[in-house]
Amino acid sequence: MTNKNLIDLEAMSTEQIDKIIRKAKKIMQSPPDFRHACDGKILATLFYEPSTRTQMSFQTAMLKLGGRTIGFDNPMNSSVSKGESLKDTIKVISGYADIIAIRHPVEGTAMAASLYADVPVINCGDGGHLHPTQTLTDIVTLSSEKGRLDNLKIGVCGDLLNGRTVHSLIKTLAKYSNNSFVLISTEELSVPLYIIDILEKNGCKYEISNSLADAIVDLDVLYMTRIQRERFKSTEEYEAQKNIFVLDKEKLDKARQDMIILHPLPRVNEITVDIDDDPRALYFKQAQYGMYGRMALILLLLQDEDFVIESREANISDHKCNNPKCITQQEEYLPNLSYEKKGMIMCDFCDKRID
Ligand code: CP
Repeated sequence: MTNKNLIDLEAMSTEQIDKIIRKAKKIMQSPPDFRHACDGKILATLFYEPSTRTQMSFQTAMLKLGGRTIGFDNPMNSSVSKGESLKDTIKVISGYADIIAIRHPVEGTAMAASLYADVPVINCGDGGHLHPTQTLTDIVTLSSEKGRLDNLKIGVCGDLLNGRTVHSLIKTLAKYSNNSFVLISTEELSVPLYIIDILEKNGCKYEISNSLADAIVDLDVLYMTRIQRERFKSTEEYEAQKNIFVLDKEKLDKARQDMIILHPLPRVNEITVDIDDDPRALYFKQAQYGMYGRMALILLLLQDEDFVIESREANISDHKCNNPKCITQQEEYLPNLSYEKKGMIMCDFCDKRID
């Protein structure tokens, strides 16, 4: 295990996040200066779940830095289909690649992979849990387009329960001063309580709203998300939620001219296409900022000895995590790693309470 893994952006200081942003901006200003920065290096992209942006922007990032890529985007075309464990896959790939980017539908998988990797592991999304490099994308965009990461009023709208991008974004922006949030969702898809705890712990103001039309009027940033169909137990439950929050021209007319609209993408129907040409609609530009953020991250993890990401102190627990969506339920050899929070024992992989 190295101390160069990006599993959860929480483990990074704001100074480290700012360093990534500065590096990304340097790369944006003069991409040719970085054309050979990773000559001879190999990135492995292990995508156990579909992706367009995260996978291809990581691959493009490495190619633009002069490195190469290997990997799979369908585990059924790899020996995973024959029953190979995560541990064995990671051990083997560690011998081939200099850095690993992994996405998996099960919570805590990137953290589990980092236990067995001899090279840096980057979490590209683990179930409904975390998606830290999307947050890097979002904050590089915010810093470039709004010129700051503080004093922002941010509306987050859609599937706030299952949207891992929203969880990572709120956790990160809560660390910067005087940010406030409007949480716009149905009651069923409201943010998990641990996110409310983080807002309260950081002294962030927040409002809960069920009306996008009302909430939009005084926002600096509107962060739209899709309803995450793949996380629902039944089609009926998804159908009941899917058309409730749609940003259209009529609602956008109520927003300020300097508000920006972000979306991690993919979009389904939650932003009507006639908004795409509005100068406030930055979601396609955001995807490009993500590539620069990932170039910066790869460079810092591979080349900056001072860029160390401390992992949380964990203990071996007597209790096994019983979250059915946790990687410990699938990969039985994993240790029962836990940490303590407010007197509760939490799973180190999925952050759910286990005592
Ligand atoms: N935003 C995002 O993670 O997109 P992909 O699922 O296409 O990677």
